[in-house]
Amino acid sequence: MKVCKTCDRVYKSEHDFLINTYEWRTHNNKEMWFSCSCGSTLILKAGQFEWFDPYKLLSDRAKTIFNDLALSTHLPRIRTSIERIQNLLEQPDSEAKDIARELKGEPLLAADLLKLANHVRRENSAEINKLEHAIMYVGRRTLRDLVTAAYLKELKFNTHAFTLEMFWQEAFLIGLVSESIVKELSLPLGTDVAYVGGCLSNNGKLVAALCMPEQLDMIYEETIVNQTTWQEAEKRLGAPSHTILGEIAAAFWSLPRFVSETIGHHHDWYSQTDESDWANPGLIDVVILAHQLSHLILDRPHRMENPLFEKACEVFKLSQKDVEAMVKKFAGHRDFANSFV
Ligand SMILES: [Fe+2]
Repeated sequence: MKVCKTCDRVYKSEHDFLINTYEWRTHNNKEMWFSCSCGSTLILKAGQFEWFDPYKLLSDRAKTIFNDLALSTHLPRIRTSIERIQNLLEQPDSEAKDIARELKGEPLLAADLLKLANHVRRENSAEINKLEHAIMYVGRRTLRDLVTAAYLKELKFNTHAFTLEMFWQEAFLIGLVSESIVKELSLPLGTDVAYVGGCLSNNGKLVAALCMPEQLDMIYEETIVNQTTWQEAEKRLGAPSHTILGEIAAAFWSLPRFVSETIGHHHDWYSQTDESDWANPGLIDVVILAHQLSHLILDRPHRMENPLFEKACEVFKLSQKDVEAMVKKFAGHRDFANSFV
């Protein structure tokens, strides 16, 4: 039996461990770490629960798709060196210089992290050019999420029409717009959380690019030839929704809970919840709005999901004029997002 010291949640059966838990990961092959529903990290000794496999965290729908696409052989796992950095970031007694040393073994990642740290620093503060400084500036929790994002960015696509560059340009744009919405509307949400949550919300497309590239190209082409939304194109072609593929990504790549929620609900939030959930707009509302504003910024009206957009505007009490002003203000993010790729 295990009890969470923060929220007193009791874990007895396998079922208890698999419901509303997140971010399962191994640590030095000696321990298994996971996040309780309250957000605290809990630790199990290796061997104590040999039954664990991320597959068990999936919904029945996701399990079927996982098996149909033979994802157990196609889905890449997070590299050990990345896991090592993530583990170091979670240990309160690890020093920034140790983390910086590990990051140096991942130069592309180190460069990206410096770039991102400089993006989130205040305008009037000095440029961050040391990894140790970047770690302290951004904070370990955020850095851990950014490490995951940077690792995913290195995965190679097997597509021809829908390219890796297209995916990441859109992902970074959605992240930057999400962050700006939080600032613009003075929402009580972390701007870094908004950035990472927005950036990784379409991760299901990343799984599709790796595991069903031909079908992903067909979906993309369908949106252009028939000027339709991504969701509609998936339905017409009988392809699995990227929100379900994203659920699989979240379980296998140990993505943070707030990311798995934006992945799962950035298209169905207003049809699956009721008005009481919208009284205090949260990260999912921000990411929904960011997706739609990004379509406007990228000038592709056919990709807009109008009922979803209207609902998001209603939730945030935005007029047509407010939307136009935001699109104008955030338009510069397009070039900045492109510079990340
Ligand atoms: Fe999406």
